Amino acid sequence: MMEKFFATCPRGLEDVLSQELQELGGQEIRSTPGGVECQGVFPLCYRLNLESRIASRILWRVGQGWYRDEEDLYRLASSLPWPDYFSVDCHIKVRMIAQHSPLKSLEFATLRVKDAICDRFVRVTHARPEVSKRHPDIQIVVFVAVDHVVWYIDTSGDPLFKRGWRKVAGEAPIRENLAAGILRLTGWTGERVLLDPMCGAGTFLIEAALMAKGIAPGRGREFAFRHLKNFDSTTWDHVRQESIKPILPGPSPSIIGYDEDANALTMAKRNLEGLGLEDIRLDQVDVLDMTPPGPKGFLVTNPPYGVRMGDRSELEEWYPKFGNLLKQQFAGWGVYVLTADSRLPKLIHLAPSRKIPLFNGPLESRLYEFQMVAGGNRKPARQARQQALNKSGLK
Ligand SMILES: C[S@@+](CC[C@H](N)C(=O)[O-])C[C@H]1O[C@@H](n2cnc3c(N)ncnc32)[C@H](O)[C@@H]1O
Repeated sequence: MMEKFFATCPRGLEDVLSQELQELGGQEIRSTPGGVECQGVFPLCYRLNLESRIASRILWRVGQGWYRDEEDLYRLASSLPWPDYFSVDCHIKVRMIAQHSPLKSLEFATLRVKDAICDRFVRVTHARPEVSKRHPDIQIVVFVAVDHVVWYIDTSGDPLFKRGWRKVAGEAPIRENLAAGILRLTGWTGERVLLDPMCGAGTFLIEAALMAKGIAPGRGREFAFRHLKNFDSTTWDHVRQESIKPILPGPSPSIIGYDEDANALTMAKRNLEGLGLEDIRLDQVDVLDMTPPGPKGFLVTNPPYGVRMGDRSELEEWYPKFGNLLKQQFAGWGVYVLTADSRLPKLIHLAPSRKIPLFNGPLESRLYEFQMVAGGNRKPARQARQQALNKSGLK
């Protein structure tokens, strides 16, 4: 039987997530802001949880309906066969996500839905499941729009960016699935050098290595679908076995990280060691003193933001120096900078070839792409030419 799943993701990654879900076997793919819907037989959700690098959660759609108020939600929730989905021994949590909903109190609506689920259990099993806000086995996600509600069961548990590899987090680490999505947006496939010159605890480096080696991001963690009554351990073992791809012979992709901070590098080293990725090179270097480690490659980084870390006025002086260095030394490279600092494009004095809006947690950010061409990317020169054209009346 075909089931519907909704994969949530950081805003801005919907297109690359759609491609990924298609590669993983999803059908009828439809993207909406913040996630992508797809269909497949139930074990598809095992594979998506295990292998999606970009999704935040995989939600299983168990129902939908029209509503006006909390009592409609109670009635609709009561009509769903919850005891068929999970046992009364599971600890549950109800999470309500509202978009333009007329409900006055989401807290009250959440309570009514929880009551409906528990009452349904009492009717069938004469017992009610316990609620656990912090460590639920099963999370019921209720998406309420203007007059329409969709009921989901979260099959992931902990969000999928919690891969299980992060032993230590530095300051302002980027989320793992956002890093993976950005790598996919850059088009890096493992053949060229990948450099993060402000690597912190190493998120881009690790996600890149997992991608290049074909290692499933979820191989070291558990998932909530294990608590579902339809959980099939034989199929799950099979999906896990299938995800173990032979590591291709030949040299490992060249992945390099720099950071000026020795503590950050120690953290990156610990994270890398935990995964057996010691072949990734780490050097303590100030980014402004670096030289390109090859004639061509991908530079992917998220510099200090000014909001979470980094002094705003220091950054103002730093951007033009960073831009100059790229211009002088990184011809032939694709440079990708994620930042929430809207001053960057002006101050770096380079013309971005792409600007992609992305959300880094709650921070509205942009991924700027600069294709570094020898003698090109000189924004001032372009601007001068444009100004000359404007003056002459030609545009
Ligand atoms: C926003 S954090 C990067 C976080 C990283 N992507 C992660 O997920 O852990 C910025 C990093 O830039 C480093 N950094 C700041 N100024 C630097 C400089 N001039 N040269 C090299 N690294 C620098 C900081 O030490 C910090 O680790």
